Amino acid sequence: MLKGRNLIKPNDLTVSEIDEICALAEQIIVDPNSFNEVCRGKILATLFFEPSTRTRLSFEAAMLHLGGSVEGFSDAANSSTAKGESLADTIRTVSSYVDVIAMRNPKEGAALLASRYSSCPIINAGDGGHFHPTQTLTDMLTIRALKGGFEGHTIGFCGDLKFGRTVHSLSEAMSRYKNNKFVFISPKELAVPEYITQYLNDAGVEYTTAERLESVIGDLDILYMTRVQKERFFNEQDYIRLKDSYILDNQKMSLARKNMIVLHPLPRVNEIAPEVDDDPRAAYFKQVKYGMYVRMALIAKLTGVL
Ligand code: CP
Repeated sequence: MLKGRNLIKPNDLTVSEIDEICALAEQIIVDPNSFNEVCRGKILATLFFEPSTRTRLSFEAAMLHLGGSVEGFSDAANSSTAKGESLADTIRTVSSYVDVIAMRNPKEGAALLASRYSSCPIINAGDGGHFHPTQTLTDMLTIRALKGGFEGHTIGFCGDLKFGRTVHSLSEAMSRYKNNKFVFISPKELAVPEYITQYLNDAGVEYTTAERLESVIGDLDILYMTRVQKERFFNEQDYIRLKDSYILDNQKMSLARKNMIVLHPLPRVNEIAPEVDDDPRAAYFKQVKYGMYVRMALIAKLTGVL
């Protein structure tokens, strides 16, 4: 039963609940018009304390496509946070107006804190370098659509694996399915955190690490590229040194399997050359669209209308 629940981290959902959400998203994709009134009278608040294009706008589009309404802010400077209001008080207030809240906040743990003060479901739309569970649902719906399911994949995660919340979320989520293997491709300074490798060790999941994308790209079914995130660095010199560690271009794509897909949560900066966009294996703009459909399904489930 998903009605009334919070979504703070991907593994708040069971494997069968992920199936349920993906199955509903697939029904919506086939016949969107039959869902365009199901949230009539419901309100989604989008509280974004950090910049976003895809997550905020796809949440808002999702609720509007379901016939509901949307309110919120995209810059905390325009909210009473700027006057010193606590997150707890903001959430107590907003949850008394709306049916569901999607919140992004730069502080790790902010979504969990919000859930303790909210009278409606909280969806974590990204909390610092921690988790981004609706990006994970987006990635999973894309994998299900393009690779036929969640099992038996070799998935390469490339780029900023230290601060990349999408990587932390997707690797944890995919580790629950059989016969998946992970290849973590990063400079040493941006390696995946120990709490993730510990989780994978405990779960008995096979993984390797690499520093050169060219040396492993040919082994992959899915390549998950990520941006080196300037906003997470304390030292600009480190960012400048590491920002162009990986640039996927047609030459590297020529080493990859014919049926590999390239995902990226976006936004990208330099890590995928625009020439790759025309390669049929580039799936990151399809992924964007799946993100809206999976958020439609999630909103419908958490509000209890379906
Ligand atoms: N993928 C993602 O979270 O994109 P935005 O930062 O634009 O929301």
